[in-house]
Amino acid sequence: MLSRLAVLSTRSIATSRVALGSQETVKLWIDNKPVESKTNKWIDLTNPATNEVIARVPQATQQEMQAAVESCKRAFHSWKNTSILTRQQTMFTLQALIRRDLKKLAENITMELGKTLPDSEGDVIRGLQVVEHACSAATLLLGETMPNISKDMDTYSLRLPIGVTAGITPFNFPAMIPLWMFPLSLVAGNTMVLKPSEQDPGVCMMLMELAKEAGVPDGVVNVVHGTHDSVNFICDNPDIQAISFVGSDQAGKHIYTRGSKNGKRVQSNMGAKNHGVIMPDANKETTLNQLTAAAFGAAGQRCMALTTAVFVGESRKWIPDILEKAKKLRVDVGWKPDTDIGPLISPAAKNRVLGLIKSAKKEGANVILDGSNCVVKGFENGNFVGPTIITGVKPSMTCYKEEIFGPVLCIVEVETLDEAIDLINRNPYGNGTAIFTTNGITARRFTNLIDVGQVGINVPIPVPLPTFSFTGSRGSFIGDQNFYGKAGLNFYTQLKTVTQFWRSEDASPEAKPQLAFPQLK
Ligand SMILES: *[C@@H]1O[C@H](CO)[C@@H](O)[C@H](O)[C@H]1NC(C)=O
Ligand SMILES: *[C@@H]1O[C@H](CO)[C@@H](O)[C@H](O)[C@H]1NC(C)=O
Ligand SMILES: *[C@@H]1O[C@H](CO)[C@@H](O)[C@H](O)[C@H]1NC(C)=O
Ligand SMILES: *[C@@H]1O[C@H](CO)[C@@H](O)[C@H](O)[C@H]1NC(C)=O
Repeated sequence: MLSRLAVLSTRSIATSRVALGSQETVKLWIDNKPVESKTNKWIDLTNPATNEVIARVPQATQQEMQAAVESCKRAFHSWKNTSILTRQQTMFTLQALIRRDLKKLAENITMELGKTLPDSEGDVIRGLQVVEHACSAATLLLGETMPNISKDMDTYSLRLPIGVTAGITPFNFPAMIPLWMFPLSLVAGNTMVLKPSEQDPGVCMMLMELAKEAGVPDGVVNVVHGTHDSVNFICDNPDIQAISFVGSDQAGKHIYTRGSKNGKRVQSNMGAKNHGVIMPDANKETTLNQLTAAAFGAAGQRCMALTTAVFVGESRKWIPDILEKAKKLRVDVGWKPDTDIGPLISPAAKNRVLGLIKSAKKEGANVILDGSNCVVKGFENGNFVGPTIITGVKPSMTCYKEEIFGPVLCIVEVETLDEAIDLINRNPYGNGTAIFTTNGITARRFTNLIDVGQVGINVPIPVPLPTFSFTGSRGSFIGDQNFYGKAGLNFYTQLKTVTQFWRSEDASPEAKPQLAFPQLK
């Protein structure tokens, strides 16, 4: 793997294409085995730093997807009977294996998605924390019990698996998001069909190998690949009980509507527009460093990227400072150690971002740092966009309304905290927001009045650790139960309540059937 990284960083595009060949195919994963697809529809998998084809991803056929679901159905019969301790121990082993292979997993992400190696490691680690959370299933899956709820009567509840579940995951966190899903679904006794992003499925396949090594039995988790057809297959298949989705708005709404119409439980995390409010009393250096990292890290391809900075009052004097910090960021291929910003996932993603920067200029904003013409020496074909800062942004502008998903920071200036709160509450999305201040009273006012699911106080990307749930709200989420935390396991289980009655007196010969609805005392 490392030698391949070295090869790619030194060879020209033409020769490395020959060296790697474009014939390598990504396999399906069914019954714990890699399976070559028989499809005739293939998607090129490219390295975003060079745009050369590194493998081909199949669009699985209907029969192959059906086989994956059948395999999950078969496996469910015995997996649901395993003890909680067995499943929990499997997760313990899985977490150790992921930690063992952390570097390899991260390298695969960097090659297929482009982000820097430390960022890719972060992707794996944040997923690993959900595996660790799954290790406390015995506590998380506890039911409730109430003896003597009525005379001689007790009621208790059980959290039971729901059956075959499905996960559809986005390109931007190819390890973390599958790990939000299958460990929790499996530890609750379900089986799962995963459909990773067709743009970077490699690391998900590596996780499947590790799950097998950890002792996950055949068929308990299967992988299919594809685009629209596979998504619709999952929404329509009658044997799939629940769908977890993370990705774009359009896909998320479609999956929610189509899946729930077919009677499935759906949790759907979608688009975002996250605002960071900078108060004049904030600690200047820390705030500007955090803001720079949260806006430009992962080239802005995070739904939790802090893409809109709201400078309140006097804090606007710091705008030149953030400009200086952004100018110093190094744009280069993800596998070089001093890179800050890697390429975007695809030429289409790059063109979209360039279009949004253009629209800002046309609509009267000031692009004070323009990364549109960014070229990385030796990688002229890569999807690079340099750090970009747009000031004078108004809520009516396209660059404000759309989720940019690139290394672009929009700056809005307001006079007061309440104006900032108003602005944020009017935005349709409710994924995350942050305030930078040294004043507890300001922070509390913000927390109380802001209508967003995840709030950071001096924390730019307030994604909670898995003891809590990921609580994006409003336009950022549809469904009933959030991802991970207690809600995550509630999503993957159904409640059953048992009410039992053991009469203390023996029935007397005079006892008669009582036909009135029991009032229970
Ligand atoms: C799982 O347990 C149920 C109920 O005890 C039983 O009917 C079923 O046969 C078991 N499945 C397997 C594969 O052992
Ligand atoms: C339930 O009530 C009975 C008396 O009706 C009592 O003897 C028993 O201890 C109670 N059980 C619990 C667990 O409270
Ligand atoms: C990533 O992992 C997959 C699955 O193991 C493998 O087929 C692929 O070659 C790896 N990609 C790179 C760029 O190393
Ligand atoms: C918010 O951001 C996260 C993390 O980047 C992303 O996965 C998710 O889809 C977004 N939407 C919601 C509902 O929070």
